[in-house]
Amino acid sequence: MEAFVISDVEAIADLPAFVQQRFREAESAVAFTGAGISAESGVPTFRGKEGLWTKFRPEELASVEGFLANPELVWEWYQHRRKVLSEVQPNPAHYALVEMEALFADFLVVTQNVDRLHHRAGSRNVVELHGNLEENYCFQCKAPYTEEIDLSSRQVPRCPRCGGLIRPAVVWFGEMLPEGAFATAEAAARQADVLFSIGTSGEVFPAAQIPMLARTHGALVVEVNPEPSLISEYAHLILRLPAAKAMPALVELLKTIRKS
Ligand code: OAD
Repeated sequence: MEAFVISDVEAIADLPAFVQQRFREAESAVAFTGAGISAESGVPTFRGKEGLWTKFRPEELASVEGFLANPELVWEWYQHRRKVLSEVQPNPAHYALVEMEALFADFLVVTQNVDRLHHRAGSRNVVELHGNLEENYCFQCKAPYTEEIDLSSRQVPRCPRCGGLIRPAVVWFGEMLPEGAFATAEAAARQADVLFSIGTSGEVFPAAQIPMLARTHGALVVEVNPEPSLISEYAHLILRLPAAKAMPALVELLKTIRKS
């Protein structure tokens, strides 16, 4: 199947009739998001020219083995990422998804991001497949750690209950996804009429099964990404544009279509 590709933001107001028809009739929609949706907020992505994984080794910074080998280094890296997040804001693409929530009977954001920018923008239905950077828990006894984190401290906090090392509540390579998160995302994908894939390379599994699952269960798949990705191979419509440009235009169109 050849996807319909658009690379001019003006053309979003005039999408092909088959897309408009599906947008009009859709009852449930899922937005599957990745690092690219936060790129224009100033949060680096993982892959690509400037990606974090071109400068850092994921096995050192994002694995249980890496944490056990050098907890201070791993903690310091996450402290740095938290500092970056304290200085950035959600962008128009995050806000567009907040507006979308009101346009569909069922709307779920399924994100691979740990940056909490969907929450900060105001999205209410969000599933975080890879956890988040705001929370922490004990590596040893798994109890949540709720003390405030001093962003300037390089010392790894210790669990007040068992003395274990505290870790960020993000999913590392080789770990299971948070209980329930994947099941919720899967259920939504199966019944979605439209799936928007925004700013993800689609390279990390099992997360990347979500858009595929929606596709095989009949959803119209719309990709928003300035570069080709694994999702492009099966999307029906591709907006080859940065998310902060494409998403507000897409929401405007949806508002018009769904009111008429
Ligand atoms: P990647 O870094 O793999 O992909 C980011 C995607 O965003 C690429 O396809 C870019 O082309 C696209 N992109 C860049 N700028 C964009 C913009 N302004 N608007 C829209 N798209 C843009 O990030 P993810 O797909 O999120 O896992 O990576 C998946 C997982 O790999 C992450 O959740 C993380 C990482 O290892 C964990 O931390 C467990």
